[in-house]
Amino acid sequence: MIVLKDVSKTYAEGRSARVVLEAVSLQVDAGEFVAVQGSSGSGKSTLLSIIAGLDLPDSGFVEIEGRRINTMGERERTLYRRESIGIVFQFFSLIPTLTVSENIGLGLELNSREREIDTRVKYLLDKISLADRRNSYPDRLSGGEQQRVAIARAIAHSPTLVLADEPTGNLDEETESNIMDLLKQLNDLQGTTLLVATHSADVAARADRVLQIGELQR
Ligand SMILES: Nc1ncnc2c1ncn2[C@@H]1O[C@H](COP(=O)(O)OP(=O)(O)OP(=O)(O)O)[C@@H](O)[C@H]1O
Ligand SMILES: [Mg+2]
Repeated sequence: MIVLKDVSKTYAEGRSARVVLEAVSLQVDAGEFVAVQGSSGSGKSTLLSIIAGLDLPDSGFVEIEGRRINTMGERERTLYRRESIGIVFQFFSLIPTLTVSENIGLGLELNSREREIDTRVKYLLDKISLADRRNSYPDRLSGGEQQRVAIARAIAHSPTLVLADEPTGNLDEETESNIMDLLKQLNDLQGTTLLVATHSADVAARADRVLQIGELQR
């Protein structure tokens, strides 16, 4: 499902360079639930955004479902991402001027009819127990509620791969557990491949496999 081979990434920092990823190789099978752990600043978010094709590696390659995403053109990569990948960002990234329902339906607008979008959004609102907040704007929601909306948005188009960056950061244990139930259900019932960056030992304990980012590098 996911293959990374010798992926390196360096960020320029003034005149010096910060090596964030050094020859990272990893493999994740379809249907697996894998957690990525590592200290703050170790490159988990960078790794996820390279796998998502939002950022490009300096060297090495990324293959998802047998397709090399770092050599695709920009347009093709964007289309591929919209169709096949669901991304839960570390800082939610909900659109402040759109309601909860509109945020969730965002990724569906390209490929679905209005009625299909309505049905799907209603189903997801129910799943995340936020039906009563469907017309609220994100800044009226708590952190945990925003996170649930971000997850609903990420999975709305039934992606084959979900990349989640600290999907339960800053949440209480019960909300964390509910969110993990939601992701796990997707993984169990639909065979969605899950790659989750997390500091939480509880989240890692639910994964099929835990990768330490430091151990993936040369
Ligand atoms: N666009 C960028 N430009 C320069 N440096 C960056 C950029 N993005 C990330 N970095 C640096 O790369 C390193 C890794 O960052 P990254 O966000 O991937 O870490 P992380 O493991 O996700 O950390 P956290 O657990 O705190 O979320 C950090 O030192 C960060 O400052
Ligand atoms: Mg991060």
